[in-house]
Amino acid sequence: MSDLVAIILAAGKGTRMKSKLPKVLHKVGGKPMVEHVMEAADAAGVSRKIVVVGFGSDKVTEFISGRAKVVLQAEQLGTGHAVLQAEPALEGQSGTALILCGDTPLLDGAELKKFCEIHKASGAAVSVLTAKTAEPFGYGRIVRDGANNVAKIVEEKDATAGEKAITEINTGIYCVEYPLAFQLLHSLSTNNAQGEYYLTDILTKCQEKGKKVAGILTQDFSMVMGINSRKQLAVAESIMRQRILDRLMDSGVSIMDPASTFIEDTVEIGRDTVIYPFTWLQGQTKIGEDCEIGPNVRLQDVEIGNGNHIQFTYGQQCKVENNVTMGPYIHLRPNTLIHDKVKIGNFVEVKNSTVGVGTKLPHLTYIGDSDIGGGVNMGCGCITVNYNGKKKYRTTIEDNAFVGCNSNLVAPVKVGKGSYVAAGSTITKDVPENGLGVGRGRQVNIAGWAEKYRQK
Ligand code: UD1
Ligand code: CA
Repeated sequence: MSDLVAIILAAGKGTRMKSKLPKVLHKVGGKPMVEHVMEAADAAGVSRKIVVVGFGSDKVTEFISGRAKVVLQAEQLGTGHAVLQAEPALEGQSGTALILCGDTPLLDGAELKKFCEIHKASGAAVSVLTAKTAEPFGYGRIVRDGANNVAKIVEEKDATAGEKAITEINTGIYCVEYPLAFQLLHSLSTNNAQGEYYLTDILTKCQEKGKKVAGILTQDFSMVMGINSRKQLAVAESIMRQRILDRLMDSGVSIMDPASTFIEDTVEIGRDTVIYPFTWLQGQTKIGEDCEIGPNVRLQDVEIGNGNHIQFTYGQQCKVENNVTMGPYIHLRPNTLIHDKVKIGNFVEVKNSTVGVGTKLPHLTYIGDSDIGGGVNMGCGCITVNYNGKKKYRTTIEDNAFVGCNSNLVAPVKVGKGSYVAAGSTITKDVPENGLGVGRGRQVNIAGWAEKYRQK
């Protein structure tokens, strides 16, 4: 269906969210709601997307950043008026438009595709996707005639007691043929309880023109879930979270406790990786196969290879290669690259640094702005002194160096290949290859001192 376009309504303020942020930019599963809607439209096979913006249009336009055509609805006069704002963008063209709302993050692309196909096959000029619910309050009700055709849609506020009892509701999703649909929308009036141009009235207008309308029922209730409040946002979040976890488990990832695991939609995880409780994986995080992640790991935009064991760790914008053991209590800060087989023990922070193959940072260490080679052993409590209060400098530690416990390496400084640094040193000059750097006061022993001291 190459002529299928999507019109996404995203101009409303979302008053009940009580937010400075436009409603459609609130996140579900780590992505703004409108992003989910755009993805579902793509999955349904649309060739173009038009997003109608209004409240907070600058922010929404900036977020969309060219991925869809954006049109402005300067005043929010109703859903029918909103769709009309897409007319100039489709001037002189004809085809099918899939109309969606920007506040329905749980849409399923395959289900939308099916809906579009049924619409096409039905020969209707306007089709509405409907659903049945025991709690229809707030939704437009689908009024069918004796022949079971949709006669009209009645909004909650305009419904009679009899109509309110109807359990088939309007999902707010439509397929319409244009330009006919725009002609019909031009004839809408605001003669209703809310004084708005209702998109739903397009069905009656269509029938008045002698054209066919169709009401197509979906069993997928997530199609209906529009987010109007923070409470509904949390409900959508938990449904989305379960979907993401199910998808990962189906693809071969073990998740020990789904109830305490939070993984955003953008994250990728390889087969036979096990996720332990209290883990939160975000953004562009990618994890390879055969890893053990957690308990208590939070990773933001972190790329991790295969066979890694990571626990009690917070990592941001960094990369870990393969067979690395890490934790507990590690902070990996941006721009860090950890090569294969590194061991990072407890209470270690690494920032803007490279750590070479097989290097050990076992305990209580700060590595900042450093290039550490392979096979290096950093003793307990070593610190790279990278900042003099004004500027930052780099530390270089070459392959197979051994830095004794509680040493300070004052950058810029280099510890040469295979060299040693004596424990407790403050190193301010380069240590030559295979040499020893000692930078500490010499020890003096005074015989018998303690005895005299006690007698005083
Ligand atoms: C609408 C339908 C209702 C349906 C429900 C499904 C109408 C009149 N009613 O009601 O039958 O059951 O959706 O969720 O269509 N918007 C604009 N510009 C406007 C007004 C709204 O862009 O001037 C956008 C909103 O941002 C939102 C969408 O249209 O994304 C729906 O608007 P909303 O006010 O939430 O409609 P409902 O009252 O939920
Ligand atoms: Ca709504």
